[in-house]
Amino acid sequence: MSGVIQRVGVLTSGGDAPGMNAAVRAVVRKGIFHGLNVFGINRGYEGLIHGEIHEMSIGSVADIVLRGGTVLKTARSEEMKTLAGQQKALAQLRKLEIDALVVIGGDGSFRGAQTLAAQGVQLVGVPGTIDNDIAGTELTIGFDTAVNTVVDAVGKIRDTASSHERTFIVEVMGRNCGNIALQAGLACGAESILVPEIPYDLDEISDKLKRGHQRGKNHSIILVAEGVGSAYKIGEELHARSGFETRITVLGHLQRGGNPSALDAVIAAAMGGKAIEIILAGETNRMTAYIDQTVISRPLEDAYGNRRPLNRELYDLANELSI
Ligand code: F6P
Repeated sequence: MSGVIQRVGVLTSGGDAPGMNAAVRAVVRKGIFHGLNVFGINRGYEGLIHGEIHEMSIGSVADIVLRGGTVLKTARSEEMKTLAGQQKALAQLRKLEIDALVVIGGDGSFRGAQTLAAQGVQLVGVPGTIDNDIAGTELTIGFDTAVNTVVDAVGKIRDTASSHERTFIVEVMGRNCGNIALQAGLACGAESILVPEIPYDLDEISDKLKRGHQRGKNHSIILVAEGVGSAYKIGEELHARSGFETRITVLGHLQRGGNPSALDAVIAAAMGGKAIEIILAGETNRMTAYIDQTVISRPLEDAYGNRRPLNRELYDLANELSI
């Protein structure tokens, strides 16, 4: 591809996350500010493969900075996992002389990106997923908002749990990562938090519920990360052990929607802007990362390094606080 980067593509891929729009806006506006032509690619790699590409203007990202979802649309592309799909994607970029690509998404999206980078596309990955499960960055775009959404929902569930003196099992997203459950659980004072990273004992949880009941506690909230297994099954087993009336709420996709929190909007803007800086500096195969409250550039392969382990200190603290 040409030595001087003038044409940059941007796409969002995988599960959408609040703040993706703020990142797209930053890529487009900062790119234009520096004299680049920026192209939006619709529906992630699906749209790239099928040529759904249009030039973006300053106005095409107006009024989206605090809007949830992604105006570029997103998809999980099976075709991009095939060599034929990757070749079609590359051909589309070459046809439009797009030399550089910003991919906003999770680790699956980054894998697709690496195949294009191997073919000479100047590539920058921007971590966007509510799961916060990408190595190399302390935060991914969307995580903070999702945690706040869960805390808000649990507050409402607690009202009815308290009125009816019930135990609620609330299942949250996160794929095979317990970060959403842990952070939200600690923030809202859940009685127990079940995460895939740490074994749990339902007898112990049941005993804790009984101890609480003896102290006069009339309701409980148990947060279960989806990677642990079915909240319904856990609810049945806890009912069988404790005798307490249980109800299940699976929060599901509402955790992916809504306006981004200020933190997510700021991180997204900083990461989108950093992606353009990386491109202007002529670097490739990089990702943006949030480390010590600063957005930095680091090798894309760091996204596949050892994931930060679940914060065990916070997990233990949550247990100590919910005796
Ligand atoms: O990766 C984000 C995420 O919301 C996960 O937490 C969840 O397991 C998955 O996506 C759900 O994917 P889909 O929207 O394709 O059902």
